[in-house]
Amino acid sequence: MCGIIGYTGNENPVSFLIKGLKQLEYRGYDSAGIAVFSDNGTHIVRAVGPVRNLEHKVSKLSLQGFSGIGHTRWATHGKVTEGNSHPHQAGRITLVHNGIIENYSELKEQIEQIGRTLKSETDTEVLAHLIDIEVEKGFLLLEAITRVIPKLRGSYAFVVSDPEDPRCLIGVSQGIPLWVGNSNGNMLLSSDSRGLSLFTNEGFVLKSAEIVQCRPGSFQVFDFSGHLTTKNISLTQLSNDSSELVGFEHYMMKEIYEQPLAVLNTKAKLIQSAQLYSLPFKLWDHVQLMGCGSARHAGLVAKHYFEQIVGVTATVDYASEFSDCFNHTQPSTLVILISQSGETADTLSALRAAKNRGLATLSITNRKQSSLSLESDFCLFTEAGCEISVASTKAFTSQVSLLLALAYEWSYQIERVESSFRPQLNPYLSALPEQIAQTLQRDKQIRFIAEKLLSSRSFFFLGRGVLFNVAQECALKLKEISYCFAEAYPAGELKHGPLALIDKDSTVILLTTRGSTGDSVSDPLTHLQQDKMKNTLQEVKSRGAFIWTWGADTPYFRQESHEFPPLPSSHRFTEPILHTVLGQLFAYHLAHLKGAEIDKPRNLAKSVTVE
Ligand code: M6R
Repeated sequence: MCGIIGYTGNENPVSFLIKGLKQLEYRGYDSAGIAVFSDNGTHIVRAVGPVRNLEHKVSKLSLQGFSGIGHTRWATHGKVTEGNSHPHQAGRITLVHNGIIENYSELKEQIEQIGRTLKSETDTEVLAHLIDIEVEKGFLLLEAITRVIPKLRGSYAFVVSDPEDPRCLIGVSQGIPLWVGNSNGNMLLSSDSRGLSLFTNEGFVLKSAEIVQCRPGSFQVFDFSGHLTTKNISLTQLSNDSSELVGFEHYMMKEIYEQPLAVLNTKAKLIQSAQLYSLPFKLWDHVQLMGCGSARHAGLVAKHYFEQIVGVTATVDYASEFSDCFNHTQPSTLVILISQSGETADTLSALRAAKNRGLATLSITNRKQSSLSLESDFCLFTEAGCEISVASTKAFTSQVSLLLALAYEWSYQIERVESSFRPQLNPYLSALPEQIAQTLQRDKQIRFIAEKLLSSRSFFFLGRGVLFNVAQECALKLKEISYCFAEAYPAGELKHGPLALIDKDSTVILLTTRGSTGDSVSDPLTHLQQDKMKNTLQEVKSRGAFIWTWGADTPYFRQESHEFPPLPSSHRFTEPILHTVLGQLFAYHLAHLKGAEIDKPRNLAKSVTVE
C-alpha cells in the first residue's frame, strides 16, 4: 500500500523519482507527489490520480536538486485530494510514508496542544511534525528520528529529509520493507526492489527496526537507538523481472498468458528445493491455511488436496480474522500462510499470532526476502515472476499448483499407501502448463460471450466441492475489475435462498467437473456431481437466466446451456486451475468491454500493508 522512493546522488533526481514511481504505481494510484531538495530549498509537486498526472505537472517546471523523495498513494487516512498527497511537510521536515501510525489521533492532539496546525487529514503529517519538533530543539535529523520512534505505534516505513543537509536522506523501516540500492554512487530508497530495478541490480532490504542514512555513494545502517550496526551488509542481486507489456494492452492479460510458464517454473523450482524435503511432515496431522482475497481462495482449493491426498484435516481462515478468533489449533498443526507479496499486513499478523501460539508456520510466497518469508519457520516460493496487475492471476494458479505438489510430496513422504490419487496425479501435474495453454485458446470465444453479456445485471458462479472454491475466485475477479455484481454459491445451496435473485437479466455460470478420464460419466463421483448440476441447471433455466456451463463435455450440458466452452480433460485436482483461467479471461474481457481500468481497479492496491 503506497510506494515510496528516495534518491540522493550526482544527477538530477527528477527522472529517477518519476521513473521509480511508475514502477511502484501498482501499490497505489490515488495520487502522487515528489519533493526535490537543493540549496534553494525544497520544491514539492503533487497531483491527484496516476503518476502520469504528476509527470505532466513536473514537465512544465525545470526542477533541479541534489536529492528527492516521491510517493504514490493508496488513501487510508483522508480523502483522495492533493492536500492529503505526499510528500508532507512540517517546518523544515519533508517526508513520504507507507503504513499506518495507529496512535495518530492522540499524537495529533498533543501536537495541536502546543499550537501547531495540521494542514491535511493524514497520519503522515503528524509524523513530520513530531520530527520537526525535535530538530527545532537542536537535534540532528537522525537523533530526532530516534527520539520520535518510541512514540509511534503501528507498522511503517518512511523517508525523510532536512534542508540543513539536503544531500542526506534517512529511511526508516518498522514492519514494512524499505529497500536500498546503489547505482554507480546514486543511492536509492524504495518500497520494493521493483522501484530500484530500472537503475540498479544491486540492493538490500532493511530489517524491521532499522534506519538507513544515505548520502551520494554511501550508506550507514542504525538500530532504533541510533547505534551504527556492525553487521556486514551485502548488496544482493535484485530479481530481474520483466515489467514490459510486450505487446499486451494490459498487465492482467500478459500475466494470464504467463501462467503456463509460471506454473512450470513453480513446480520445477519446488522439486529442487531443499526446504521441501526438510519439512518434518510426520509431526503434523492438521493444516490451518490462511491468506486474504485470492490467496485465501488458493487455501480453500488446497484444503481439498490436504484432506484427500495427504489424509490430514485442514481448515481455512481469513488471515484478518485469525488473530481475533478462538481456534482449536493443536500442537500438531502446520499453519500455512499464502501471500503473493509476502507483505500483506493481515497475513503477517496471522503469522505472528500463530507463532505466539507456538505453532509451526510455512509460508508460500512469490517474493524472496519478503517479511512473510523471513519471519516464518519454513518457506516455499512460487515462481510466478512479478505480478503487476492488481487482480491476481498467475500468482493464484502458481499457489494452487505449488500446494497441490506439496500435498503430493507430503503423501509420498509419509508413505500414505492408501492415497489412490498419487499414481494418477503425476502425469496431470506435468501436463498442467500445456493444459493451461490449451485453455487460453478459448480467449476469443470468451470475449465473444462477454460481448453478449454486457447488459447482464448479475453473475452467479456455481460449483460443487473444490469447484465452488474456484467459483469464489472467479466472482472476486469479476467484481474487482468489472465492478459488476457477482457472487459464488455452492450449487446445491442456490435453492435455499439466492434463487430468489435469479431472473432473465441474470447470468449463471455452472462450473462442472469434466472428470479425469475424458469419458466424463465413467467415474462415479463425476457422474454424481454432473447429475446434481443438472438439477441446478434446470432450476435456473426455468427462471429465464442465461446459462453458461464450463467443464462437463456431454450432450446434455451442450444442449441445455446457452454457451459452452469446453476444457481439456484433466484430473479433478488440476481441473480447478483450468476453470480459473476461464474466469480470469471472462473478467478481463467484460471489464475491458465496459471500459474499466483493468490493471488498477478503483479503490484497490496491489499489496495491502495495513490491517
Ligand atoms: O499479496 P497477497 O497475495 O497477500 O494479497 C492478498 C490479496 O490482497 C489479493 O489476493 C487480492 O485479493 C487480489 N487483488 C485479488 O485479485
